Amino acid sequence: MIQRPVFFANWKMNHGPTEARAYMAAFLRIFSPHEDRTVAMFPPALSLATVRDARAGRTDIQLGIQNIYSRDRGAFTGENSAPMARDAGAELVLVGHSERRHVFDETNLEVAQKVAIAPQFGLTPVLCVGETLQEREMDAAEHIVMEQLEIGISALRKETIPQIVVAYEPVWAIGTGRSATPEDASSMHRVIREKLRALAPGSDGVPILYGGSVSTKNAKSLLEADGVDGVLVGSACLDPEGWAEICRT
Ligand code: PGA
Repeated sequence: MIQRPVFFANWKMNHGPTEARAYMAAFLRIFSPHEDRTVAMFPPALSLATVRDARAGRTDIQLGIQNIYSRDRGAFTGENSAPMARDAGAELVLVGHSERRHVFDETNLEVAQKVAIAPQFGLTPVLCVGETLQEREMDAAEHIVMEQLEIGISALRKETIPQIVVAYEPVWAIGTGRSATPEDASSMHRVIREKLRALAPGSDGVPILYGGSVSTKNAKSLLEADGVDGVLVGSACLDPEGWAEICRT
């Protein structure tokens, strides 16, 4: 376990600016600053500025965007770039989330381009990897995750690799109420750590988070699992009370 546990809230397509304002007011009221952990919110892009303004003065809370495009500007209707996200207050960006891969058909190569452009504009990429149920049942989970990891960081300069975050999110665990067991999470985290070490010596400080049906009930046992440095939470972060409880774990 790295020194500071990490708690990331992925709001997905929930909480526009009005709801985001109410959410942040409630969350900041009940969650006092904790200097021993990293907490970050990933609201929808349209709510980024609202969350940024709401957390003003709370340097313990970081801000991220859920997706960026792989180019920095131009005729790409509907997309958001890394420099725009940074300008709007984001410090982090989720890349290769399972919904981006499986709903929007993002490939490993597109993920690699997004991972590579993020740090050029001051954003920390959070590279999400994870196998489907079918891949797990075919005993291909490790192979798939290693491929996503290796290609995902392939366009990064070697010295930048220690600055990323990795999230292991098995697709079958996301939004299903069926999280990985602490043992399953540990064993994949170990493989990811070894691969990172082999690809980039000096990357031992890269936090490896677990995501997929993390809740107030299982957060503690998952965070205690060997090699789990933090959690990436979807459904259970949507109400501020539940999220504050998880962040106090
Ligand atoms: P979940 O989502 O907590 O609802 O399973 C996690 C994620 O998609 O990051």
